[in-house]
Amino acid sequence: MSAPAELLEVLLVGYGAVGVMYTYFLENSGKARVTVIARGNYSLVKDRGINIESGRLGNHTGWKPYRIFGSVNEAVDRQYHYVVVTTKALPDVLPTSVLLSSFLSSGYKYPQPTYVLAQNGLGVEEDLYAAAKESSSHEPIIITGAVFLDASLTDNRDGLVQGTMERFLAGLYVSDGAPLPSAEARASLQTYVDTMHAGGSNASVAENIQFEKFMKNRWNAVIASICTLARLPPPAMSVTSTLEEIVEGPLHGALQELGALGQALGYPIAEQDARFLTDRTLRGFSKTSPHLPSMLVDVQRGSPLEVEVIIGTLVRWGKKHDVPMPRMEMIYALLSIIQVQNLQKSGLKV
Ligand SMILES: *[C@@H]1O[C@H](CO)[C@@H](O)[C@H](O)[C@H]1NC(C)=O
Ligand SMILES: *[C@@H]1O[C@H](CO)[C@@H](O)[C@H](O)[C@H]1NC(C)=O
Ligand SMILES: *[C@@H]1O[C@H](CO)[C@@H](O)[C@H](O)[C@H]1NC(C)=O
Repeated sequence: MSAPAELLEVLLVGYGAVGVMYTYFLENSGKARVTVIARGNYSLVKDRGINIESGRLGNHTGWKPYRIFGSVNEAVDRQYHYVVVTTKALPDVLPTSVLLSSFLSSGYKYPQPTYVLAQNGLGVEEDLYAAAKESSSHEPIIITGAVFLDASLTDNRDGLVQGTMERFLAGLYVSDGAPLPSAEARASLQTYVDTMHAGGSNASVAENIQFEKFMKNRWNAVIASICTLARLPPPAMSVTSTLEEIVEGPLHGALQELGALGQALGYPIAEQDARFLTDRTLRGFSKTSPHLPSMLVDVQRGSPLEVEVIIGTLVRWGKKHDVPMPRMEMIYALLSIIQVQNLQKSGLKV
């Protein structure tokens, strides 16, 4: 064994497709060892490992990280440099502050880690920031990211299939009114990105991470939402020219609402942005893409949707900044009906 003291200690929570890829990158760097919390099919991934078939990572049979546990509680035996969250962001089911409560109570004896949120949606940092701020005298360090990855797990959750595309944009979360990031926070961000990079990831530091996340979220908030409500992938929106005309108005209108919100938030969003994305959806790449948005896959499986962070946050920010978003409010209402129904059926909410 080489001296483990030199390795970065990382805890990763959420061993789905993103979690497996990121664990692999971190360990493959030779600079980190990763303790994984796997909740779905824990014993299978612990005993047999994961069969990886990836254009980016190569093929590996039964691959296992340094340690695997079934719950966060079991992993609080040491100090971690990073606690990485790659679960779905579901504040209405399990807020991150509750998921990570073992680190946020006085029972945790070690210095606070840097938190890394590699999740879809907006505002995902808010509840963790508030809880971490309350539990420590230091300003919390939270790295937040935009994940671009064409990977999925097989049905048993013990196999991973991936193409070649992979990007991770990362930046520091700065809460309203909080001081600018310290030199320590900036160094922690750079080390995390460098470690991912050394392991083969295409990770990079983003100048304005909230803008990048906002731009990425537009597709999920509007196009994936429409697909989810229609229960069909993007090409179904334009199978006849009459249908395309019917869809075009509300699709473009919803994207314009997001453009107006983005401008109110100070992001450099061009006037033609909504038009460009509408055209691409109805007449460009999306017209032929059979790819099912993950929210639609969740509906088909009866799983919880990331409706709060993908759409709910936009509606809340719209109210806060006086930007009218009637179409997004309707989308939010309809998806919320599905969400509560699914959560009640699966016993996640009463
Ligand atoms: C990985 O496995 C797939 C499917 O068996 C195969 O098509 C691909 O060529 C393999 N890649 C490498 C790098 O061996
Ligand atoms: C776990 O793996 C078993 C055996 O391969 C499979 O039958 C089951 O559906 C999997 N469970 C989940 C939650 O993926
Ligand atoms: C790597 O990231 C850059 C910038 O984020 C992106 O333009 C490029 O397409 C990515 N490459 C791959 C192979 O995913």
